[in-house]
Amino acid sequence: MTTNTPIHETVREHYAERIKNSASCCGSDACCSPESSLYPVDLLTTVPSDIASTSYGCGDPITLASLKPGQTVLDLGSGAGLDCILAAQKVGETGHVIGVDMTPEMIERAQANAKRVNLKNVEFRHGYLENLPVESNTVDVIISNCVINLSPDKEKVFNEAFRVLAPGGKLAVSDIVTDGPLPEAIKQSLSAWAGCVAGAVEAEDYVDMMKSVGFTDVTVTPVFFDKETVDSALADMGDVIDLKSISRDDVYKAIYSAKITAYKPA
Ligand SMILES: C[S@@+](CC[C@H](N)C(=O)[O-])C[C@H]1O[C@@H](n2cnc3c(N)ncnc32)[C@H](O)[C@@H]1O
Repeated sequence: MTTNTPIHETVREHYAERIKNSASCCGSDACCSPESSLYPVDLLTTVPSDIASTSYGCGDPITLASLKPGQTVLDLGSGAGLDCILAAQKVGETGHVIGVDMTPEMIERAQANAKRVNLKNVEFRHGYLENLPVESNTVDVIISNCVINLSPDKEKVFNEAFRVLAPGGKLAVSDIVTDGPLPEAIKQSLSAWAGCVAGAVEAEDYVDMMKSVGFTDVTVTPVFFDKETVDSALADMGDVIDLKSISRDDVYKAIYSAKITAYKPA
């Protein structure tokens, strides 16, 4: 069974277009900060600079995950593969990394990137976060970078993440959440959804959803989300949103990137 909704379709088209039109990203995209500001500089020295700069993320799930050799890692919404490649280098030859993404163009780029850096312990599977093509109880660590906010059914995503994690497994995610409600004009925009803004939910609701499917020790640490990134995201949506009808300060106040960790009980 596949998962497909108008939101999935809009998001897929958005990211297919992004990857086709640029060798790297970071045009005007809320799900994207210059990679140098997301990761410690020494983490990126092991990959070619064009791969390091093809990031659509909003944080550094690799450092958050504290990966160890031999672990099996799953990346939810692996994009062009940067986090999978970094994870594969951390878990080494005895470990294994699986990236799942619903955009075929992203899967192709990720596979090509992994081949270029000669990694044999990473694979990319086409699929949906809401219906993961992964066996139950097989994954040690789930990472994800700015993707869960894009799902129209986040509870299903957390249910699936819980299912595939082995007992005692860890979830280490960077994502966009909100503190308070977003302006209605933004929430109604599919384009704002694809830009990682409209689909973001309040941090409290995010945590409640995770706990409701069984996750324990859930922590949320806010990370600075700069005004420039929000400005460029809003500019990108100018054709579909009447920007005069929203208060920019309300958006700055409401939206932030967070580091989120949680565990499946052993
Ligand atoms: C903002 S990009 C992040 C990509 C990558 N994590 C990174 O940091 O560069 C979002 C990615 O998630 C994928 N995606 C979004 N929603 C998805 C879903 N429901 N199921 C599978 N993939 C999804 C998109 O195709 C896109 O590649």
